[in-house]
Amino acid sequence: MAYNRCINVNCLLSTVGYQAFASGHAPPSDLTKIDPEKVHDTPPFDEPGLKQIGDNEYELVMVLQSFGFTPNKVEIPQGATVKFIVTSVDVVHGFEIAGTRVNMMVTPGHVNSMTYKFNEKGEYLILCNEYCGTGHHVMSAQLEVK
Ligand code: CUA
Repeated sequence: MAYNRCINVNCLLSTVGYQAFASGHAPPSDLTKIDPEKVHDTPPFDEPGLKQIGDNEYELVMVLQSFGFTPNKVEIPQGATVKFIVTSVDVVHGFEIAGTRVNMMVTPGHVNSMTYKFNEKGEYLILCNEYCGTGHHVMSAQLEVK
């Protein structure tokens, strides 16, 4: 009979042990989910912008909302490594930096991040590449590497 397979104590313990092991390998939840209605009150999105975290290393926290990025103009030094941390307060947007491999889908309720090192000076265009409504085509921001 099928239920006999797990009726002894050793079998039950190994099942519990396996579940504990599996949950120990779950990704950290602190940065993956967010209440989209409380983005403006939830760190780090309560203070969007650029923060230096090391030697030419930065975090850039950005909030996406139809039809713009906050902040929408950022300057960083040449050679900077930047971790982009993004979320949306409304619908699905895209986060693409033209000329780089940075390309993320930004969905409400989730935090996404990606790190990139800017070796070349210049003006980089950050653009939304997911259709998000009537203002989609004007949804962009500017990143200047000086
Ligand atoms: Cu936001 Cu398209």
